[in-house]
Amino acid sequence: MLKNNLQGLWKYRVPFLGIFSIATALVLAFAWTGGFLGTGVTTKEFLGDSLDHFPPGYRRAHGKGMCFSGTFHASGEAVPLSTSRIFLPANIPAIGRFSIGTVDPHAADNSTATVSMALMLVGDDKSQWRMKLNNEPYFATRDAEGFLAQVEAFEPVAATGQPAPDKVAAFFQKYPEARKSVEREANATWPASFAGTEYNSINAFVLIAADGKRQPVRWSMRPHAAVEMLSKEAHAQASHDFLFDEITQRVGVAPLYWDLVFQLAEAGDPVNDPSQPWPSNRKEVIAGTLEVNQVVEQTHGACRDINFDPTLVPSGIALSDDPVLAARAGIYSQSYNARLREIGFGKATDAVGKKEIK
Ligand code: HEM
Repeated sequence: MLKNNLQGLWKYRVPFLGIFSIATALVLAFAWTGGFLGTGVTTKEFLGDSLDHFPPGYRRAHGKGMCFSGTFHASGEAVPLSTSRIFLPANIPAIGRFSIGTVDPHAADNSTATVSMALMLVGDDKSQWRMKLNNEPYFATRDAEGFLAQVEAFEPVAATGQPAPDKVAAFFQKYPEARKSVEREANATWPASFAGTEYNSINAFVLIAADGKRQPVRWSMRPHAAVEMLSKEAHAQASHDFLFDEITQRVGVAPLYWDLVFQLAEAGDPVNDPSQPWPSNRKEVIAGTLEVNQVVEQTHGACRDINFDPTLVPSGIALSDDPVLAARAGIYSQSYNARLREIGFGKATDAVGKKEIK
């Protein structure tokens, strides 16, 4: 998502979107046809004039991935907080995708520090809850315009191969909250496996109880496997597909598990600013446990044709007024439409960029 991937995005000349105040993919997709969204930044500014510079048939970010399937074992502990039937104590189907943050679907696994989980849970009433989660604990900026500004500020200049210091300084002056994210990334260790990684919703959502009570939450998928990190040096030497090879091998031996842990906001915690994590002592509720027992190559797995748009929530869960959450719906819908069209017209290539996929 952040700095490491920004360079990858620029490689494909992907200026990034900022979209305000619109909370559904449908409305955003409609707005795209008008070319204008929210307060002045268009979807076009994120994806560029042409979609041709992306590898055809793949996601416009997090292009390298692998589908997974399994079961969500709901604990029942979230039932007092939300009317969604997904939280009733039962075992329900789960489909998802592991990915790395770079655009290029053939990138080396050590080309980014961002690893991700996308997930769709289906309740007994056929309601769906879709989500995309990243290993970063928070977003760099308070809004999506800030993300675009960060991409521009950190673009390396030809003479030095480094970002221009005056542009970086101007960016931090306008978005001071981004300092902690940039510093954290500079000092971070790097993920050693998908299995030993915690994934975070980052944006806030609202659980709605039977009596109408609204509880703002964020959540994490917390691994049962030990968290594993690599030093930058070890990460630099890791093999091209080390993350995907490892998860394939591991799931072949035994299922992997993550707890879905809600963090409950208290009065005053910012629900509309994804750059501000809430205090770590907030109450947690374990809504259930995800069991992953199969991984499949992404060009053939069920995840290929799913848009894991996090604004597609079941009744009993509502969106917060976080502007980054609203921004995401439009770009995901645009990316989804483009890549499915490419697959449909036989333009997409397989995982090594050779054969067409259908
Ligand atoms: C302005 C902010 C953001 C932009 C412009 C953006 C852009 C994108 C794009 C274009 C895709 C490809 C979508 C597809 O074809 O399905 C994508 C995928 C993804 N994004 Fe974002 N993103 C943003 C924020 C975030 C945040 C805050 C998170 C984490 C909470 C996130 C997590 C993911 C994940 C996990 C995927 C891969 C989904 C999959 O496997 O299907 N993104 N993003």
